[in-house]
Amino acid sequence: MTEPISVPPPIDARIAVVMVGLPARGKTYTARKLARYLGWLGYRAQVFNVGNYRRERVGVNMPAEFFDPDNLEADGIRFQLASHALDDMIAWLGTTGQIGIFDATNSTLERRTRVRERCEKAGLSVLFLELICDDPAMIEANIRETKITSPDYQDLTPDEAAADFRRRIANYERAYEPIQSDEASYVKMINAGRKVVVNRIEGYVPGRIVQFLVNLHTVPRRIWLTRHGESQDNLRGVVGGDSSLSERGRAFAYRLRDFVASDGPPVLHVWTSTLKRGIETAWELRRSFLPIKSLDEIDAGICDGMTYAEIQERMPDEYAARRADKLRYRYPRGESYEDVIRRLDPVLTEIERHREPVLVIGHQAVIRCLYAYLADVPREQVPFVSVPLHTVIELTPKAYGCEETRFPLGPE
Ligand code: SIN
Repeated sequence: MTEPISVPPPIDARIAVVMVGLPARGKTYTARKLARYLGWLGYRAQVFNVGNYRRERVGVNMPAEFFDPDNLEADGIRFQLASHALDDMIAWLGTTGQIGIFDATNSTLERRTRVRERCEKAGLSVLFLELICDDPAMIEANIRETKITSPDYQDLTPDEAAADFRRRIANYERAYEPIQSDEASYVKMINAGRKVVVNRIEGYVPGRIVQFLVNLHTVPRRIWLTRHGESQDNLRGVVGGDSSLSERGRAFAYRLRDFVASDGPPVLHVWTSTLKRGIETAWELRRSFLPIKSLDEIDAGICDGMTYAEIQERMPDEYAARRADKLRYRYPRGESYEDVIRRLDPVLTEIERHREPVLVIGHQAVIRCLYAYLADVPREQVPFVSVPLHTVIELTPKAYGCEETRFPLGPE
């Protein structure tokens, strides 16, 4: 009998997350990260970025004057562009979408009222997400890191681009009205989350959104993902089990210790599963580590301890069902990849929260799921991510992506 498939907790309304804030406050960064996270959890989430509509429809290289609130002609064009993006988001939420993120400045009360009315008329719940920053160093870092490499400034030098962008911000500042109405459902993130104000938030998904946001930061740090060293069960080719390391697996653990020691981060969080092969690998590092149950390998249920060939021979229907849909297939009395993603949610939140490097010593399915979020792998591809044994995957989150280096430590 096929087990019921795992679905994310239902949302009883479709949600419009409406970004608010001056340019260079991290709206696009936050919107994209949020969409990635919600998509990873299994929701259909998408960002509708008004800047992209502008670039597509009126071209790049629009000078700061285009964003002057007193430039009535440009203001009309900007209003039209924002309306097109909003129309598209509402249409998408009326068909397949569940969470739309409207990524625009929405910096005046008039504009927000219009957006809210249109969304509510379409039956959407509206959650405003306002990013406020008055720390000049943070704003300047954002301009330098993301704006001057934007397609908007492809023909300008970095200094010319930064100067134009500062004038663009000044234009928006003249008209900007922060959210004040306590009627609206909103989250205000002030100075990159140093202070967070939450108003009228209820429901599972809005609650998850808030929890995710309060743990976000942009401090650069590395995340190391690796599987445990080769185990006795790996040698036998069986699924699951709880065996110890093989000789080669132990050799990998020593190499991992040298790798970590040679890099020498002053603080390193080391997390592993509660399974022997994970703990034995972490133990050899000779530093403190945390065994976490949610990092245990996918539960293969009644197939635990069998080889794939045995599953194919004794349970051909199960074998075929898994091949047909490896993401959603749940082992009888066990788990699916979707189940694993759900239980990894708290681990992911902790990875996002920490500012120091983290080393996760996990298992194939678990590392695939974590990697998929960090490297933005489409959900259907999660069960096929390549995660070889005895290889450390180093990921360094950047503004709009992740830098990746793989260290095959061996033994082969
Ligand atoms: C943009 O054109 O880059 C954004 C317009 C806006 O949201 O004000």
